[in-house]
Amino acid sequence: MTNLIIHLIAAARPNFMKIAPLYHALSREEWCTPIIVHTGQHYDANMSDTFFSDLNLPNPDWHLGIGSGTHAEQTAGVMVAYEKICLKQRPDWVIVVGDVNSTMACAITAKKLNLNVAHLEAGLRSRDMTMPEEINRLVTDSISDLLWTPSPDADENLLHEGIPRTKIVRVGNIMIDSFELLRSKIDSEHAAAAFGLTPGSFGVVTLHRPVNVDNPDQMRTILSALIEISEQLPLIFPVHPRTRNRLKEIGMQPVLDKAHNLHLIEPQSYIHFMSLVKDAKLVITDSGGVQEETTYLNIPCLTLRENTERPITILQGTNQLVTINTLVKSIVSVLSTKKNINSPIEFWDGHTAERVVQSLKEASFQ
Ligand code: UD1
Repeated sequence: MTNLIIHLIAAARPNFMKIAPLYHALSREEWCTPIIVHTGQHYDANMSDTFFSDLNLPNPDWHLGIGSGTHAEQTAGVMVAYEKICLKQRPDWVIVVGDVNSTMACAITAKKLNLNVAHLEAGLRSRDMTMPEEINRLVTDSISDLLWTPSPDADENLLHEGIPRTKIVRVGNIMIDSFELLRSKIDSEHAAAAFGLTPGSFGVVTLHRPVNVDNPDQMRTILSALIEISEQLPLIFPVHPRTRNRLKEIGMQPVLDKAHNLHLIEPQSYIHFMSLVKDAKLVITDSGGVQEETTYLNIPCLTLRENTERPITILQGTNQLVTINTLVKSIVSVLSTKKNINSPIEFWDGHTAERVVQSLKEASFQ
């Protein structure tokens, strides 16, 4: 029987919950062997290892150990190291996910070796060329052989860019598969209890985009707003390493120490984090994935960004874009508004990995 080698590229925190359901689904197939390649873009235990254990992933087959650096250093480092792997073990398919630097780096490397590349979470566009992720998305999609999209807007974006319809397959949102796989563990976690908080009595915050955290004045303004909000609604804020580094530089520690309802904590494992989100009254974020997870869970989300590559979350009514000037007012309005019951988004149903496997099988044996 044919045994196709499928590389699954994992690099940074948001990738792990996208490859896990696919790894498990491919492992059940007889015609292929999934191989996990970890580029090492994220390397701290709480940004990487805990996700492997929560999501029941084995240790990566290949670890490139690239680490941090400038965009060029990181991208180039991944390309050089991944090319060596591809030359040693020529995969039949390279599956890249999301929009991080390693996604683009591995797609380019593979395509230049004439390998088949598939992109999971294709077609999302913020139209904001100052975001490194937008460049990664555009480059990756333009060279991929198979583009798996999460929503109709993504299909339309790709068609507008001249990608042939035959390469585009709508499979839905793979992150929902991870959530559903672990739902019972997430439901029994009650992570907020450690802070003396009950479901619905607190908000969750995540912020790491350079535009929000790299400018000291902006960071100080955001923190002051969060302190003000936390006096009405306690906030739990797992702090990303980039944000943690910036916090050390802006000299607000004495003020933060006094803000007893703003809980700054370490980055959380997947199960802990999803438990917090599931039980939250609302979420303040600049993450892409969190906009989707809150939409699925029908939790109000305030996204501190000028744009989003996930407009379907706004269309559903759970997500809204806010600025630092409108954040506090928007919170007051969310807290006083009754939640709508939303109809689910097509294919955000926990079965995306099965559709991806089917599509990959068809493309491999057509
Ligand atoms: C990256 C992705 C972004 C994604 C985010 C999720 C790109 C361009 N950006 O941004 O799309 O939303 O991951 O987290 O690929 N660091 C650590 N430990 C780690 C990882 C990072 O200390 O395990 C530090 C780095 O040294 C660096 C900072 O965090 O100072 C930023 O890391 P980096 O991977 O460059 O970008 P992210 O901001 O995490």
